[in-house]
Amino acid sequence: MSARSSRKARGDRTTRASSKVTALTLRWVGGPGGYLSLLDQTLLPARVKYLRIRELPVVIDAIRRLAVRGAPAIGVAAAYGLVLGLREEAPATAAAFRRSLARVKKRLAASRPTAVNLFWSLDRMAARAGALAGGEYSFRELLRGLLDEAREIHEEDQRLCRAIGEHGGKLLRSGWNVLTHCNAGALATGGMGTALAVVYSAVETGKKIRVFADETRPLLQGARLTSWELMEAGVDVTVACDNAAASLMSTGQVHCVVVGADRIAANGDVANKIGTYGVAILAREHGIPFYVAAPSTTFAPHTASGDGIPIEQRASAEVIDGFGVKTSPPGVDVYNPAFDVTPARYVTGFITEQGLLEPPYKRNIARLFKTAGTHG
Ligand code: MRU
Repeated sequence: MSARSSRKARGDRTTRASSKVTALTLRWVGGPGGYLSLLDQTLLPARVKYLRIRELPVVIDAIRRLAVRGAPAIGVAAAYGLVLGLREEAPATAAAFRRSLARVKKRLAASRPTAVNLFWSLDRMAARAGALAGGEYSFRELLRGLLDEAREIHEEDQRLCRAIGEHGGKLLRSGWNVLTHCNAGALATGGMGTALAVVYSAVETGKKIRVFADETRPLLQGARLTSWELMEAGVDVTVACDNAAASLMSTGQVHCVVVGADRIAANGDVANKIGTYGVAILAREHGIPFYVAAPSTTFAPHTASGDGIPIEQRASAEVIDGFGVKTSPPGVDVYNPAFDVTPARYVTGFITEQGLLEPPYKRNIARLFKTAGTHG
């Protein structure tokens, strides 16, 4: 059902009272011989089409071209991708298995550089493989064990999202307008999202929340994805072009900003979709709280500051020939970083599965990792 028809079925937007997350981003179907079913987000909102993926290069391609995107969802897809890659290679000995594992992991790790969940997930899968490889070599058993681990990563992400939503939902007051950038919803995770989980939870408890979704140039994750999934869930959403954020804030129409993250350094600097930094500065200027909602799997405690976060540069065509419309003269130079870094001083707080994390960030992020384990 399309967002439009499901909205019709529910009735007028002003009567919407509760939210129900309907977007299903990815899932594994069957046992070790099964496949990865993945919603192709490049086609949204025009088409809802699931890809049936059985081969490693197709998973890598799906991550690169953003058919699956958003830090936690990339991590989950990579875990299933590792299973597919090993299945293809079917190594006959323990030594061959170790070589295959390293090769497949390296190929997946090269798909996108910024979201740390990708590397966290691959490291966790490799650690599981190491733990499973102790006894007599059985490829069947190893593959089954790794599929279980990938499923566990997926289910864990669902729990983390739910907990982020519950903690963050309490911060929102009924009647508030929340501005978000990019898509940090169900489409970006294995569960109900991070920034949007905060909204979903608030709405579930009866609060009246309206979301302003920044369009998010150049790939329009806000216009295409955030608006789609919020409409599907019955949440009041308004799309605004990126350059309307200052006007919305200065006219008192935004009470709070909530965004997701791709990587959070040990000092609290945040890499997120290009444009997030500008939104954070605007929020500070207008005295509006700026929250970053992210699970512990998005923190990189071994990356000291934002300077150490690799920022992905993407193809110029996304800016000057996006969605088949030529908007600049061919051959013009283009600057197209996929992410920027918001300095920690602009962040009011991090909404994590363990609750609200406030300054001083260096100390409090280190504490988070005493309880959540280390990586990154
Ligand atoms: O390039 P994308 O679409 O993968 O970028 C996604 C974002 O920047 C999200 O805000 C971030 O990954 C958080 S998703 C919960």
